[in-house]
This record gives sequence, C-alpha cells and structure tokens, in this order.
Amino acid sequence: MNLERIQELAFKIMGKRKSHLNREKGFIYYHGQRVANLSLNLRKRLFPDDSSKDDIMFAGALFHDVTKGIEPHNITGAQVIKSLIPHECTDAQLEEISEIILLHNARNREKLPPPIRVVQDADVLDHFGSLEIWLKFMYSAHNEESVHDAIRLWESKEHKQYLQESRDSLNYNLSKAIFDRKMSFHLAFQQRFRMELNGQFDG
Ligand SMILES: [Fe+2]
Ligand SMILES: [Fe+2]
Repeated sequence: MNLERIQELAFKIMGKRKSHLNREKGFIYYHGQRVANLSLNLRKRLFPDDSSKDDIMFAGALFHDVTKGIEPHNITGAQVIKSLIPHECTDAQLEEISEIILLHNARNREKLPPPIRVVQDADVLDHFGSLEIWLKFMYSAHNEESVHDAIRLWESKEHKQYLQESRDSLNYNLSKAIFDRKMSFHLAFQQRFRMELNGQFDG
C-alpha cells in the first residue's frame, strides 16, 4: 500500500471540508492524521512484534470519520471508502479498512480484532489533553462564548461524567494511563485558567 498517495488522497477529500458546524475546515483530515499516527504508536507499545496490520490500521484511522456529518457516519464511511481508494489496495485490504471505519465507534468491543480496538482508543484519546482545549476554544469562537462559558463547562458535573465515560470506553490500560496524563495536564490548565479569570496569581 502506498501510504503517501493515500494521505494525498485523504487531504484532497477532507483537507478543506467543513464536517461540523462548530469546527474549522479540515478538522476531520487533521484528526484522522493524528488518530492514524497515534494508532501506530499505540500498536508499537501494545504489540511490539506485530506490524502486519499497520498499513490497514493507518488507512482505516485516516479515513475513519471521512463522512462525518452524513450520519450514521460509521456506516456511510464504511461504504464510501470502497469507492475512494479501490486502486490503492487489494480487495481484502479494502474490506478490513472498511471494517475499521464501520466499527470505530462500536460498543461491546471485547471480541473485535486489535487494529480496530487500537483505532477506537486513539480516536477517543485525540479529544483530550491539549486538543480538548483547542476543541473548546474553537467551539467558543464559533458560538461567541465568553471565557467564563468555557470554564463553566469544564467545571460542570456533566463534563466530569463525560470524562469518566470516555475513560471507561478505552480498551487498553496503556490508553487509560495516557488519558490520565492528559487529564492532569488539562486540570492544571483549568485551575490556572480559573485563577487568572478571578484576577488571582500564584507565587
Ligand atoms: Fe467518528
Ligand atoms: Fe473520530
């Protein structure tokens, strides 16, 4: 599989597309790139001796949200991918890529093969840490929210529940450990943000 050509194709299809009202154009392309790279890095740590599915996993992760906005996007995406990259891989590879897209947001995951479970975790993880700050600020910009609206969300009960549910949805302990480090960074940012919004300072 020529991953360079596949990435060029991905940019052509998603690089300028607005898939979500509250997100910038191309979000889904860069999200796909991050999820693809993170999936590879997770695989190297979780299954260091098995790189056999790397190309399939990378392509599936890259395109996992290709039809975001045309819901249910896992089903539409799994269909559409078959006409997007048919000349880049074999039919069998295309089937597996399509399956990653179809199941990237599935629940009851225990029996799914590792490449799908790894992409699922990478997809969840990409919404937290520094990216969570970016997402919230972009949302606020699109909705003309104040800084207080942003901090109010992070300090709300609903948000804590969302964090818990997201953590619980992760398949691997390694992913949970990464999530926890992202959370401690975010909490430190959140506390400092609150302090500065209150006109306080440290030291
Ligand atoms: Fe998705
Ligand atoms: Fe996603």
